[in-house]
Amino acid sequence: MSEAALHIEGVGVRFGGLWALSDVSFAVERGAVLGLIGPNGSGKTTLMNVISGVYKPVTGEVRYGGRRIADVPTHQVCHLGIARTFQIVKPFASLNARENVAVGAMYGREGSKRSTRAAFERADELLEIVDLARVAYRRASDLTIPDRKRLEVAKALALDPEVLLLDEVMAGLNATEVEEALDLLRRVNQRGITLIVVEHLMKAIVSISTCIVVLAEGRKIAEGAPADVLASPEVIEAYLGSRWAKRQQQLEAIEAERRAVQQVRPPAPS
Ligand SMILES: Nc1ncnc2c1ncn2[C@@H]1O[C@H](COP(=O)(O)OP(=O)(O)OP(=O)(O)O)[C@@H](O)[C@H]1O
Ligand SMILES: [Mg+2]
Repeated sequence: MSEAALHIEGVGVRFGGLWALSDVSFAVERGAVLGLIGPNGSGKTTLMNVISGVYKPVTGEVRYGGRRIADVPTHQVCHLGIARTFQIVKPFASLNARENVAVGAMYGREGSKRSTRAAFERADELLEIVDLARVAYRRASDLTIPDRKRLEVAKALALDPEVLLLDEVMAGLNATEVEEALDLLRRVNQRGITLIVVEHLMKAIVSISTCIVVLAEGRKIAEGAPADVLASPEVIEAYLGSRWAKRQQQLEAIEAERRAVQQVRPPAPS
């Protein structure tokens, strides 16, 4: 079993009378892609905010590399190697794409070791990786939505993270753009970066995650391999709904029929 990159232990967050998170615990293996799913308002973004140091939990702990980080402020968390994207993208609107990424490269974990020139070189590399070299000199405010999402990923990568938190980077993308985004995330993960991915697109989550955690009303209701989690009656009831369950049954029936037909088909003449 590989070592855990991150431990979430009994985390609780309260806004006024509402517990946005209650006693949430799980570990994220180093190099994993953890899919974090759940209905609207279930606490996914709040948990991202706790891990990245924006909110301090009322109860519990986040441990990263053996260190407690629940009290560490955001800018220090990013220096420790945890970076994030925002559900509502937040570029420096008046800077161009290249400058946006270079700011991250100057500021992150390796930032203090980089000259301005090296930061721009790193920005150019990252713009290539996320397929934004073609708009490197365009102002962030003039980019299309898919390109702003790519920029958000490049900005986070510029911080040289070990763990990257991605909050709905595929929302609003069409099917082709989602496939491209998944390819990008796979490439990022192959570089050894642990990913925590929040998405509502179930197909995308299933195809990329090595493990899934499901939240509902601030509580963890399931955790495990994607196929097991999505077959869980509690998850279907709380999140996926009966239409999903019916569709899955139909797909399984089609697959069983396909296998049966293959079995009875006589071997091809030699
Ligand atoms: N800053 C805040 N102040 C008060 N309540 C908040 C705050 N942030 C979140 N909440 C509440 O906490 C709960 C969890 O919100 P959160 O944004 O974490 O959900 P989510 O799972 O990310 O939802 P979505 O899928 O819609 O993005 C919601 O009821 C939300 O209204
Ligand atoms: Mg959210």
